[in-house]
Amino acid sequence: MSEFDQLYREVILDHYKNPRGHGVIDDADASADGQNPLCGDEVSIYVSFEPDGDTIEEVKFSGRGCAISQAATSMLMEMVKGRSASEVATLSKDELLDEVGIPLTPIRLKCALLGLWTLKVALHKGKGTPLPEEAAGLDDLTLG
Ligand code: FES
Repeated sequence: MSEFDQLYREVILDHYKNPRGHGVIDDADASADGQNPLCGDEVSIYVSFEPDGDTIEEVKFSGRGCAISQAATSMLMEMVKGRSASEVATLSKDELLDEVGIPLTPIRLKCALLGLWTLKVALHKGKGTPLPEEAAGLDDLTLG
């Protein structure tokens, strides 16, 4: 394993052990639940907006899953806070995967993207932002 891989693994482990934005927003402006039926893991995402109704003021997640799903969702929380709903609706999965930083198998890729797709569904439900076409390929990911 290269030094870089080792570093990324340590960052992932840190996010897994100390997830950022872990919790629930009781009076969230937008929320959604996502499940990965392959493993049964699930994540719920809650968003509240600034008074402008568009800038993400607070974003939190709860649920259970493997280290990759939890760590990637934790990283996502840090990435999207302060951004606008429309910006996050078009956020590419590569931006998050760059942050995760290590190569992932197709199964692990679904784990890493569970939080991102769930967040996009939350914004779609709350703000009517479009859902990404690429999420359509993930048929076995249940979102709602
Ligand atoms: Fe379930 Fe990763 S094994 S989300």
